[in-house]
Amino acid sequence: MSASQSPQPTPDAIMQLGLGFWGSKTLLSACELGLFSELAAGPLGLEQLSERFRLHPRAARDFLDALVALGMLAREGDRYANTAATDTFLDRAKPTYIGGMLEMANARLYPFWGSLTEALRTGELQNEAKGGGQSFFAALYADPARLEGFLKAMTGLSLGAARAIAEKFPWSKYRTFVDVGTAQGGLPVQVALAHPHLTGAGFDLPVVGPVFEDYVRANGLSERLQFRPGSFFEDPIPGADVVVMGHILHDWDLEEKRLLIAKAYDALPEGGAFIAFDAVIDDERRENAFGLLMSLNMLIETPGGFDYTGADCVAWMREAGFRDARVEHLVGPDSMIVATK
Ligand SMILES: C[S@@+](CC[C@H](N)C(=O)[O-])C[C@H]1O[C@@H](n2cnc3c(N)ncnc32)[C@H](O)[C@@H]1O
Repeated sequence: MSASQSPQPTPDAIMQLGLGFWGSKTLLSACELGLFSELAAGPLGLEQLSERFRLHPRAARDFLDALVALGMLAREGDRYANTAATDTFLDRAKPTYIGGMLEMANARLYPFWGSLTEALRTGELQNEAKGGGQSFFAALYADPARLEGFLKAMTGLSLGAARAIAEKFPWSKYRTFVDVGTAQGGLPVQVALAHPHLTGAGFDLPVVGPVFEDYVRANGLSERLQFRPGSFFEDPIPGADVVVMGHILHDWDLEEKRLLIAKAYDALPEGGAFIAFDAVIDDERRENAFGLLMSLNMLIETPGGFDYTGADCVAWMREAGFRDARVEHLVGPDSMIVATK
């Protein structure tokens, strides 16, 4: 088709993306207010919601109806209700709650991403640690409530990938595993629930211990899952047949990534397996927009972290001595790279 015959381009997609933060911030404010948790008890009308959340009359109706139009609320008559998805995933009282991630996005990432252009020019992070402030993990771990919120957010974020790994990896060939940087223990719990023959450990900074142990106990797995305190830069990774790192490698620069992969190798016996999972970028770097944006998020959040393609990770694993490194898709934007020692 010649240029003169091409359909006229429209600006729709550009405008939708360019002003996408309107819808995003509307959802994030609803999470901040706790709107979906309140509606989990049943539908409420405009006046009741305005009163409970102290919404100004000028704003209330547009806010709620915008959430209806965005597919985040349902409206029957003059009453507003959760959708099946917002009821499952955005009610704070449910174990399936993933809003911790959105609460963090609202409180931290939203303002920090406002400085993206500066980050693009300087290559410098733009969060609490900007200009020599406290690092992200130090700031987070100094406040127990924030720590718990973050660790729970990780469980929500990684639940789909953890279930897919429990299902797709050949666990019957192994007896023990360790999840490195385990947070609340979302992955060990899913793997142990699906495979009663396995025993496992969650390895993380000591301050994470009580949050891990509570979650494991609540899932009835304290007999088979143990917390191992330590730092993966200062201490060896505990030995096991399978070593897992979920959303760990992308936090660190290339030298640190290589060090972590080498430490995983040292922790494994001959024939042991290493699983790394992240929002792995496609090798052509043109499809997985979430993975590429996650990498920009690492620019905002960390001194040297970046996301990577499957080919990148396979190459680093081979350099470390692993054989049979391969990439397997999990769910959504997430894939795992599995390698054998
Ligand atoms: C992005 S979270 C990933 C959590 C989880 N693996 C997942 O996929 O949801 C990173 C984790 O690494 C842990 N971490 C950070 N620095 C660490 C260190 N030096 N040693 C051990 N764990 C560390 C954090 O406490 C946190 O639990």
